[in-house]
Amino acid sequence: MLLAASTQRTIGLVILAIVVLGGIVYIYFNIRSARNEVGSEIELASNRKPYLSDEDLEGKKLDLALGSSLVLLTIVAITLPLYWLGEPGRHEGRDLDTWRISTNRGEEIYLEGAQCVNCHGPEGAGGVVNTAITSSSGEFVAQVNWKAPALNTLMSRHTEDEILHVLNYGRNGVMPAWGSGGGGPLTDQQLEEIIFYLRSVQISEDEIRSQVDSGVEAGAKALILETSDEAWAVEVRAAEAAQADAAMAVRLLGRADFDFECSDDASECLALDEANARLTAANEAAVEPLDAAVSTWFDQVSAAKATADALVIEADPSLADEGNEDDLRAAALEILSTLDAFEGQEAYLQWGEILFSNTAAAGTYSCARCHTYGWSFDGASDYVLEENGRDGPIPELADGYVTAGGFFGPNLTGGSTLSQFETAIGQSAFITRGQAIGQTYGRGGSGGNGQMPGFGALTEANPVGPGMGPGSGIVFEYPALLTDEQIDAIVAFERTL
Ligand code: HEC
Ligand code: HEC
Repeated sequence: MLLAASTQRTIGLVILAIVVLGGIVYIYFNIRSARNEVGSEIELASNRKPYLSDEDLEGKKLDLALGSSLVLLTIVAITLPLYWLGEPGRHEGRDLDTWRISTNRGEEIYLEGAQCVNCHGPEGAGGVVNTAITSSSGEFVAQVNWKAPALNTLMSRHTEDEILHVLNYGRNGVMPAWGSGGGGPLTDQQLEEIIFYLRSVQISEDEIRSQVDSGVEAGAKALILETSDEAWAVEVRAAEAAQADAAMAVRLLGRADFDFECSDDASECLALDEANARLTAANEAAVEPLDAAVSTWFDQVSAAKATADALVIEADPSLADEGNEDDLRAAALEILSTLDAFEGQEAYLQWGEILFSNTAAAGTYSCARCHTYGWSFDGASDYVLEENGRDGPIPELADGYVTAGGFFGPNLTGGSTLSQFETAIGQSAFITRGQAIGQTYGRGGSGGNGQMPGFGALTEANPVGPGMGPGSGIVFEYPALLTDEQIDAIVAFERTL
C-alpha cells in the first residue's frame, strides 16, 4: 500500500512540475513573440455598428478578462494534481480510522457486550470459569474451575476462519456459542470486530518464550518434588500430605456447622496451623536443592538430545555435514521417539510430557487441555470431592487423568500416533501447522474444522478487514508458540505412549 502511495505521489509531482514549468515557458515565449497588430479594418462598413475602439478593447477590459481566466486556470492546474496527490493519504486515513473503530468496538464487546474478559482475563491473558459439569446423561456431576486459555497468543495458532468457527459454535459446553451460526447473540461483523481487538493484544515472541519456559520450569519442579528420593523432597511430600489431611478435617467441621470459624478451641485448627508451618518450612528448605536438581535435569535433557545426534552420526557420518541439518533432525527424532532407545533418554521424554501439560497462561500452550479429559479443571483433585459435598471423585477421574487419553482431540495413547504418522518428523510438521479447515492429514486424519491449533509460526496473508481484503498484500506474522525443539520433544513423548 505504501509503495502504491509513493508511486502515485511521484507521478503526481512529476505532472505538477510539467504543468508549472510548461506554463512558465509558454508565458515567456508568448511575451517574447508578441508583436503589434497589423492590418486592422480602417473604415467601418456602413451596415456595421461601431464597436469599441482598439484602445478600449485592448486596454483594461482585455487585461481583466485574460487575467481572471489565467488565475482560474492556474487554480485548476495546481489544485487538481494537489487533490490527486492527497488521495492515497485519504484512503489510508479512512482505513486506519475504520481499523481503529473496529478495534475499539471489538474491545467494547470483549469487555462489556459479551464479557469475554470474565473468563479469558484482561487483554486475553487467560483465566478461569466456575462451571458445572454433567454426565453424558445430563446429570450434575460437579462444580469445577475450568481453565479459559489465554487469547493473547491466539493469532499464532489459528487463522481467522478457524477462530470464527470456535466463536460461532463454542466448545465443550464451557465456551459459549457466540455467533449467529451457532445460535449465539453476536453478528458476523461483531465477531470480526472481536478479531480486530484480539489482533491488537497479541504478545511478543520474547514474552511467549518466557511464559513457555516458566511453565516448563514449574513442571520440572513438580516432577522432581513428586519423584525424588532426596530427604528434602520426601519431607515436602510428607508435609503436603499432612497439610491436605489437616485442611480436610477442618473443612469437614465447617461442613457440619455452617457458622463454624477456626479458633484455638478446636484441635483440628491447631493441627492445621502446625501442618501449614511444617509445609512452609519444608518448601523453604527445598528451594536451593530443588533449583540445583532442576538445572541438573535440564542438563540431562540436552545430553539425551546430544546422544541421539551422536548415534545418528555414528551410523551415517555424512549427516554431520553442513546442509544436512534437516536429515539429522529427522533421524535423531526417530531415535528419541523409540521407547528405551538408549540410556538417559528418559529426561527428554519427561520434557515432552511437561510441555504437553504446560500450565502457563491458563494452559494456552498445552496439548492436555484438548487431549486429556479433566486436565482443564484439575478434575482428580480433592477439592472437587469436597466442595460439591460429594462422597467420591468424578467417576471417570477416580484413578486420576489418562494423559493424552483423548477429550476434544483424539486419544493419542496406545501407539495411535505411530499408525497415523509414518515418521516422527511428519508428525512434527502436523503439529507445527495444525489441522487446516477441510484438510486431511496423516494416514486417515479427517478434514475437520481446523480446531487442532498450529504451534509453529503463522503467516496471515490478506486477512479480511478495511483495506485488507483479497489482494491487499497485507501480511501479518505471528511468532511460534513452541520452538521446533520443543515440538519434537512432544512428538517423541506422544510416540512412546
Ligand atoms: C463463560 C466463560 C467464557 C466466556 C464468557 C467466553 N469464553 Fe471463550 N472459552 C472459555 C473456555 C473455558 C474455553 C476453553 C474451552 C475448552 O477447554 O475446550 C474457551 C475457548 C475459547 C477460544 C478457543 C481458544 C483456543 O485456543 O482453543 C476462543 C478463541 C475464545 N474462547 C474466545 C472467546 C471470546 C472472543 C469470547 C467473548 C465473545 C469468549 N471466548 C467468551 C470460556 C469462555
Ligand atoms: C484446541 C484443542 C487442541 C489443542 C490445544 C491441541 N490439539 Fe491436537 N487435536 C485437536 C483436534 C480437534 C484434533 C483432531 C483434528 C481433526 O481430526 O480434524 C487433534 C489431532 C491431533 C493429532 C492427530 C491425532 C490423530 O490420531 O489423528 C495429534 C498428534 C495432536 N493433535 C497432537 C497435539 C499436540 C502435540 C498438541 C500440543 C502441542 C495438541 N495436539 C494440542 C485439538 C487440539
